[in-house]
Amino acid sequence: MAVSKPTILVTGGAGYIGSHTVLALEAAGYPVVILDSLEYGHRDLVEQHLKAKLIVGSTCDRPLLDHIFATHPIGTVMHFAAYIAVGESVQAPGKYYHNNVVGTLTLLEAMLAANVKRFVFSSTCAIYGPPKTVPIPEDHPANPISPYATSKLMVEYMLKDFDAAHDLKAVAFRYFNAAGADPQGRLGEDHQPETHLIPLVLLTALGKRPSISIFGTDYDTPDGTCIRDYIHVADLAAAHVQGVDYLLQGGDSTFINLGNGNGFSVREVIETARQVTGCDIPAVECDRRPGDPPRLVGSGDRARQILGWQPQYPDLTPIMAHAWHWHQRRHR
Ligand SMILES: NC(=O)c1ccc[n+]([C@@H]2O[C@H](COP(=O)([O-])OP(=O)(O)OC[C@H]3O[C@@H](n4cnc5c(N)ncnc54)[C@H](O)[C@@H]3O)[C@@H](O)[C@H]2O)c1
Repeated sequence: MAVSKPTILVTGGAGYIGSHTVLALEAAGYPVVILDSLEYGHRDLVEQHLKAKLIVGSTCDRPLLDHIFATHPIGTVMHFAAYIAVGESVQAPGKYYHNNVVGTLTLLEAMLAANVKRFVFSSTCAIYGPPKTVPIPEDHPANPISPYATSKLMVEYMLKDFDAAHDLKAVAFRYFNAAGADPQGRLGEDHQPETHLIPLVLLTALGKRPSISIFGTDYDTPDGTCIRDYIHVADLAAAHVQGVDYLLQGGDSTFINLGNGNGFSVREVIETARQVTGCDIPAVECDRRPGDPPRLVGSGDRARQILGWQPQYPDLTPIMAHAWHWHQRRHR
């Protein structure tokens, strides 16, 4: 007889990575309840492509959280909900500490009150700050240089203490640059405002932007532009399903990089976009931006060892092709 799977509460499940993960959880047979404020998420995508019930509200709303835990058989929480704009966090740190730290604390306390003790958390490679070694291993020292990154590190510290005191088991995934879209074109990236390179390049290809800016062409990299680790969002989603399975099998708390292991430069991204789209994408060379390290690439050893996870889409071309398919449909 098939064993029924526990219900997962997915906060931020109407956003980019959360919605792709709900798709993967549902394909793996997990019932899902989404909590999203819809400040940045997309109701239309949830309603069209996901089976999950959508509850509109905030992780900062303790009575709402208590009601959700009292009325749904939640066994595990996956926590994507956060503000994500690094630049804005420098201008408005309180907004980020409130939403990302207080919102998470409120959620953890509501979980404990409901005796729910499994948690999967969206952390970030930004907690490492400028890297001392590349590829970056998980034991690299943390040195966040923005309130956004600090807010994520503060949650990782909270998770360590909640495990020690309350036996709450958590997997914190430190993502590198999420990219791409559902290979079947149902979901994709639609941030407002958009700050990520691949969607900006594709919006330029669609004529929605006049050009793409290259910030810095004199870095110590083969073509002089910054190198980043782009990880396909479907690979991220698959790792989250494996993370839940790991916790359900009694896995201990841990933190794990999720990257591709391959770095691609800004020029390589633009050139791949030109090949995939067939469009002439105008690029403008600009000065470096403060705080941009030349190379950010993650070590994937721990994800392989603990979860047996391997990216299915390590090359830039399918990442770009899936994103392009999505952008053409979303913006036609
Ligand atoms: N996109 C990346 O490359 C990347 C890299 C590293 C880490 N992350 C982390 O992954 C997570 C998801 O990122 P994303 O790119 O999908 O962002 P996103 O903005 O698309 O999704 C976040 C979702 O959370 C919702 N939300 C925000 N605060 C909320 C709250 N207090 N209560 C309920 N809902 C709330 C938003 O409406 C949105 O739908 C975030 O925690 C982010 O910090 C993302």
